[in-house]
Amino acid sequence: MIAVRKKSVEDSSLKKIVIEDVEEVVSETFSLNELINDSVEDPSNSKKVTPIDEEIILDPKKYILSKTDTKGIIEYGNDYFVEIAGYDEEDLIGKNHNIIRHPDMPKVVFQLLWQRISNRQNITAVVKNMAKDGRYYWVVTDFEIKVDKVTNEITGYFAYRTAAPKKAVVAMEPLYKKLISIEKVSGMDGSGKYLNALLEAENKTYDQFINEVTGKNSTMMRLLFAAMKKLFR
Ligand SMILES: Cc1cc2nc3c(=O)[nH]c(=O)nc-3n(C[C@H](O)[C@H](O)[C@H](O)COP(=O)(O)O)c2cc1C
Repeated sequence: MIAVRKKSVEDSSLKKIVIEDVEEVVSETFSLNELINDSVEDPSNSKKVTPIDEEIILDPKKYILSKTDTKGIIEYGNDYFVEIAGYDEEDLIGKNHNIIRHPDMPKVVFQLLWQRISNRQNITAVVKNMAKDGRYYWVVTDFEIKVDKVTNEITGYFAYRTAAPKKAVVAMEPLYKKLISIEKVSGMDGSGKYLNALLEAENKTYDQFINEVTGKNSTMMRLLFAAMKKLFR
């Protein structure tokens, strides 16, 4: 069981949630297997990337697009994706998308992502990714399913990304840190419960929360994402 004490802080335009404390009441002893390994090594990668504390500033007018198969294996990336990730295109195609996973990302975010898209529901997430040289970049990502019109089966997934607004990073960075610290002790079970408790305390769904912190409901963001998707389809 997790008890959450929270206070709300007005931060100019954004109502930010600051988690003051989490009390984990651990009734069982967790086995070592439940500890999260923070390694970002991809089995298909021979070299491990070491994160460095340097941000890649994204062009707000450009978008990063990738397409995967049903297992998250990259089938396509646009030029900006290849440029920012810093890999040669041939090093990205055929690899799992976790090739650019940053260790600062909690696993529960990807668990939620897969739960949603495998159930044919789109989802938006704020993601910190890692380039080949270890630098990071923050994006707002719309994940969408691709369905075969004839068989109605899922054939793959799209990810449309734009630079994350500062307010989204300010809101998500401390939350992700907290989720990771919980995951180190009690795995995704604990971080999932924490996230749910937080949303419940705020009386918001995950989608409402994300739309609020990213400003995705704003006309500008909606137009941007709509234009991006139209360009590709
Ligand atoms: C369309 C699509 C795009 C994805 N994009 C990213 C991404 O940009 N960064 C990332 O870390 N994971 C991304 N993922 C999720 C990864 O495939 C993987 O589940 C995640 O990185 C967690 O890695 P792990 O299972 O090694 O912990 C994407 C998945 C899909 C289906």
